[in-house]
Amino acid sequence: MGDELIGAKSEGTGADDALSEAELRPHVDDAATPPFVNPMEVEFARLLDFYHIPWLYEPTSFALNWSGEQVTEMFTPDFYLPDQDLYVELTTMRQRLVTRKHRKIRRLRELHPTINVRLLYNRDYHQLLATYGYGVVEIASLREEDIERILVSRDELAARVTALGEEISHDYPDRPILLIGVLKGVTFFLADLARAISRPLAIDFLALARPARGGSERAVRIVKDLDRDIGDQHVILVEDIVNTGLSLDFLLKELRARKPASLAVCTLLDKAEQRVVPVPLDYIGFTIPDEFVVGYGLDYRELHRNLPFLAVLKRQVYTMTEPVTERAR
Ligand code: IMP
Ligand code: MG
Repeated sequence: MGDELIGAKSEGTGADDALSEAELRPHVDDAATPPFVNPMEVEFARLLDFYHIPWLYEPTSFALNWSGEQVTEMFTPDFYLPDQDLYVELTTMRQRLVTRKHRKIRRLRELHPTINVRLLYNRDYHQLLATYGYGVVEIASLREEDIERILVSRDELAARVTALGEEISHDYPDRPILLIGVLKGVTFFLADLARAISRPLAIDFLALARPARGGSERAVRIVKDLDRDIGDQHVILVEDIVNTGLSLDFLLKELRARKPASLAVCTLLDKAEQRVVPVPLDYIGFTIPDEFVVGYGLDYRELHRNLPFLAVLKRQVYTMTEPVTERAR
């Protein structure tokens, strides 16, 4: 039992995680950098910083078990996000080894039913890196064998997009619509969706800075803004996929400040299990499992956008080139 007290962090001391202290420091100008124990925590903090989400590192320890006055088991979630009132526990263990952590979280929820706590797994970390961690790859390296399986076929996509268009047409009987697409992944979906809507509409695009590793962007910002003023317009923000919700959360704050008459969100895909920040979604094409998907506009390092269907990328494609491990060598 005794090792449980200090055991909470011991998973991060494996050989792969042997980084120098400088490397474990996130790219923030913060003198008091917390003592992160593994690269996943560094990346997560960097991502939150990028999206201006305030966080605290291990601010609270919860007693899970005790005998008399003596606490025999504690649990200290890695992060607390005060704005979301959310605890986030990151685990670098493989999926099948997380049973003990699940038990702890279950116990925490029993004792404190009002606490919001979220567990992010190793595979979530790799998906975050696949989205944010690497640069562009050479087009010549596009390989069919990188694709695991087709998740949504061309026909299923077409049928669902048609249905979404009808739903939107029905909901906006007498209001002209401004569709705003978030570049670039959304372009394929938006082009089809717009043609499935039988109401007058205008289209505009914006683009956000991405938190690429080693990139020049330090914080999220609009790098290509809208052409039009959206004041008093009925706006539907169109996204390809909502994952953590961090980029959409930022965008909604930006757009709300411009005082549209109404603001709805339509996303082709919802990777709901990956959500960190809650975001309102009015129209959802498909809720998909926790996998990295490509095709129909979605990319892995700029590749695979032109697949006519949605496919799951093989996990080894984005776990193979683990940049942290490379640096640690
Ligand atoms: P979020 O801020 O984590 O919700 O990330 C949303 C953005 O990350 C999307 O607009 C995509 O550009 C990208 N993204 C997230 N998941 C995937 C995926 O599975 N495949 C391709 N891009 C993704
Ligand atoms: Mg996007």
